[in-house]
Amino acid sequence: PPAPPELREQTLVLVKPDAVQRRLVGDVIGRFERRGFKLVAMKLLQVPELQEGRGYVCGYPCIIAPRCHQADRGLLDRHYQHLQQKPFYPALLAYMTSGPLVAMVWEGYNVVRSTRAMVGDTDSAQAAAGTIRGDLSMHVSRNVVHASDSVETALREIGFWFQRDELVAWESGDSQYTY
Ligand code: PPS
Repeated sequence: PPAPPELREQTLVLVKPDAVQRRLVGDVIGRFERRGFKLVAMKLLQVPELQEGRGYVCGYPCIIAPRCHQADRGLLDRHYQHLQQKPFYPALLAYMTSGPLVAMVWEGYNVVRSTRAMVGDTDSAQAAAGTIRGDLSMHVSRNVVHASDSVETALREIGFWFQRDELVAWESGDSQYTY
């Protein structure tokens, strides 16, 4: 039988470009796997950058990120819609388009809340040791990951980054120990 709805909560996690450059993708994935969450979607993509007078430009060699030109043009503006008036928004955009990032959807019981706890405080200096940012990040402008902040936000954000058919429904072999 399919898992009950409370076990099928989903959240969006982005492994940001600094973490890809620092070869930390496996470390981040490993933490969610060990916690018991289920990976249901994942892709590496380069988000194109909006340059004054040039439109959206991908500054990365396509041989490494062949999907880059398929990335949705207004993706980051939608994803960070609530931050567009912030003074740091241009820097945030530059950071998020500085190289490939990994988008993932994780599923499981209370996954939104647990993931936020695992990620740690937005401000790296406040992030507790043992959290992703507390272990791996020094500054808010290079804070390794993004994670949805509520179930409603997660639904919206997953829709920004993934097509419906990119999410894979799969069951664990031994459901006594894993979901
Ligand atoms: S706010 O103002 O409370 O809404 O912002 P906050 O929740 O603290 O942060 C929201 C996201 O903005 C990123 N951020 C920054 N990026 C670059 N430079 C600076 N100075 C900066 N300050 C905040 C922060 O990492 C959050 O990103 P996500 O991806 O949502 O975690």
